[in-house]
Amino acid sequence: MINLTLSVGLANRASRYEHIRVRPATGSIGAFVGGVDLRHPTEAAMEEIRRAIDDHLVLVFEDQTLEPADQQAFSMRFGELGDEPFVDGMADHPKVIRLVKEADEKSAVSYGGAWHTDWSFLDRPPSYSLLYAKDIPAYGGDTVFANTRLAYELLSDTMKALLAPLAGIHSAAVFAPERSADYFGKMENMSLKAERGIAQHRNRTHPLVRTHAQTSRKALYLSPGYTVGIEGMPKWESEPLLSFLFNYCTDPLFCYRHHWQPGMLVMWDNRCTLHRLVIDYHGFRREMHRTTVLGEDPA
Ligand code: SIN
Repeated sequence: MINLTLSVGLANRASRYEHIRVRPATGSIGAFVGGVDLRHPTEAAMEEIRRAIDDHLVLVFEDQTLEPADQQAFSMRFGELGDEPFVDGMADHPKVIRLVKEADEKSAVSYGGAWHTDWSFLDRPPSYSLLYAKDIPAYGGDTVFANTRLAYELLSDTMKALLAPLAGIHSAAVFAPERSADYFGKMENMSLKAERGIAQHRNRTHPLVRTHAQTSRKALYLSPGYTVGIEGMPKWESEPLLSFLFNYCTDPLFCYRHHWQPGMLVMWDNRCTLHRLVIDYHGFRREMHRTTVLGEDPA
């Protein structure tokens, strides 16, 4: 049970913008951005969007009409696109993946239902992810985002000192074929890459506290879906510490729960956030298109 409060508006206050409109979504994370058509944003608007994502970590753009090529072009304004290690891209747009669950699927299981930061087991995990809503359920299927930068900043100095030298072990074992039957095998309409047998070998360590390449601000970097241990610690030491950090970061104080409408594009910074899909829409169709931007080696 954490017992922290935020001074209203201070953690997620909007600064002044001339080319876009920015309205904070909560007191801790997220903002709605208006006044821009993502098919052809001006460079002045892009400068302000880059500033806004650094400030708010999650940006919501409403009423956008984006074909996969438009989403890809907008994503590339933030850097080179990342490779998708385990999900097939679209045939004509290999860097855009479809996250889809049909209404008639037998299982309620959906992709992205555990707290995670995207592909954190890679050498260079994505900096940003961009998710576009094509088809959404009548209700349910929200995505929740947590601010791990603010969570880090509100830790005690003693806990910060304990975490400073530690490295998390990130694993892609969840994608191994033997896990397919009880998890990925149930996602009838997701196109998972056949060669995911290499998943077991994709362990990587990254600092548990990373420094953001653009803002130089520190954030907790851990992924409940992928962080399986802490370097140099046996499980009986790492598990309680990771479990505390996972629970702490995802306290509602640090979260924004996003309710989708078709045509929304949400982008987030994976270096200082966690996210998870709420799987409460079994029986409805949901289709999202996702791109990722290649990030740096976390430091
Ligand atoms: C993801 O985990 O990237 C997708 C989340 C969602 O579909 O809401």
